[in-house]
Amino acid sequence: MADLSINLAGIRSPNPFWLASAPPTNTGYQVQRAFEAGWGGAVWKTLGEPIINTSSRFAAVHFGGQRVAGFNNIELISDRPLEVNLREIAETKKRFPDRAVVASLMVEPTREKWHEIVKMVEAVGVDGLELNFGCPHGMAERGMGAASGQQPDLVELQTMWVKEVATTPVIVKLTPNITDITATARAAVRGGANAISLINTINSLAGVDLDSWNTVPHVGGKGAHGGYCGPAVKPIALNMVAECARNPEVGVPISGIGGISDWRDTAEFLLMGATGVQVCTAAMHHGFRIVEDMIDGLNDYLDEKGLSSIAELVGQTVPRYSDWGNLDLNYKVVARINRDICINCNKCHIACEDTSHQCIDMLTDPSGSYLEVVEEDCVGCNLCSIVCPVDGAIDMVELVPEQEPVTWNERQSAIAMLQSVRDQSTKEAIS
Ligand SMILES: Cc1cc2nc3c(=O)[nH]c(=O)nc-3n(C[C@H](O)[C@H](O)[C@H](O)COP(=O)(O)O)c2cc1C
Ligand code: SF4
Ligand code: SF4
Repeated sequence: MADLSINLAGIRSPNPFWLASAPPTNTGYQVQRAFEAGWGGAVWKTLGEPIINTSSRFAAVHFGGQRVAGFNNIELISDRPLEVNLREIAETKKRFPDRAVVASLMVEPTREKWHEIVKMVEAVGVDGLELNFGCPHGMAERGMGAASGQQPDLVELQTMWVKEVATTPVIVKLTPNITDITATARAAVRGGANAISLINTINSLAGVDLDSWNTVPHVGGKGAHGGYCGPAVKPIALNMVAECARNPEVGVPISGIGGISDWRDTAEFLLMGATGVQVCTAAMHHGFRIVEDMIDGLNDYLDEKGLSSIAELVGQTVPRYSDWGNLDLNYKVVARINRDICINCNKCHIACEDTSHQCIDMLTDPSGSYLEVVEEDCVGCNLCSIVCPVDGAIDMVELVPEQEPVTWNERQSAIAMLQSVRDQSTKEAIS
């Protein structure tokens, strides 16, 4: 059995699975039930000035038979009195001293407000703080959440204010509604953040009802943009985590969030540089007990890989993630169709013929018709293998390189060097 425990910037938990700040962590009753089920930590539903939530606030995108491929919400932060939340946090921490209890905070951007709330939550024994600079709706219009989180100078300043009084580790939660996530990640680090967490939800509108013409969801016939999360956002979140993990100016532990539904997603985030993960939509869809499979699955995976701890997995893929300009232009893969597995559905032929490079030929021999890839014309785009409904019917095969590896950046610097040699000789010839 591998050691699943983590230490995220000084916040310890028996496993890397935390519930994200959201409806599953709204009350002590819920968080304690989650801990009974096995969750290693919980980031409490964001605390701040009392707010009023709307009725009708969630919507989901079901896609291709999968329910809740994406989840959309217009919910704000906790609408429960602060003192009730604080009392329940204290009770929860007392009952589960080995679990991570982190307070998510969002207040008006003034030094006094931040100091006040930090002191209050630390007094009830939280293990750390998460600053919510990500909520994309409702709070942003009041200068909080994403309105702060989209401005690096405000992220830095508010993090600094928190660090002036905080005695527990400070995690800054980032909004994905920004062009370059590392700009705010670096700002958080400059402000003294001990860790970052990402992503919060992505600006979204789940849909429009074609009968009533109302937005989905709507509040009495009116809609407003919400925040998107769930499986659909995982690739966006994974890239943002990777961008932060590989940026030397970030350099603090990362709590990965966004579309994590099982141990596999978790392992991917860990490989891409996250020290631990947070989960919201999957728990809302399937309940707290999903953590049992997550723990078992991750443990089996580590055993299978011969690893004794989570730490040995964290960041292993980061050095393999780079900019496009550093990819080898002479690396080549081609598609190969396995005739004995192929069911002749023709999907690959249509995809390649209509939208790729017209290199899957339809042939016949005495045993019937079959498909074959013209390897010289195949550009290795993967489309045929993506659309193929049968596992193993198409292999993408690596060819032995005919030329030395060369990247676009190397090619451009070689061209620039040649050009400067040529310019120099022209100058010499003229003078
Ligand atoms: C209904 C709902 C309410 C949320 N409320 C908060 C919140 O109060 N504070 C916060 O930091 N994030 C909040 N989030 C964002 C989640 O913590 C998380 O960042 C996001 O859902 C992505 O994770 P997921 O794909 O696992 O759901 C909320 C998400 C949902 C769906
Ligand atoms: S990999 Fe792309 S180009 Fe090659 S056969 Fe498949 S679809 Fe065509
Ligand atoms: S898509 Fe797959 S199963 Fe269908 S014809 Fe192509 S290789 Fe065969």
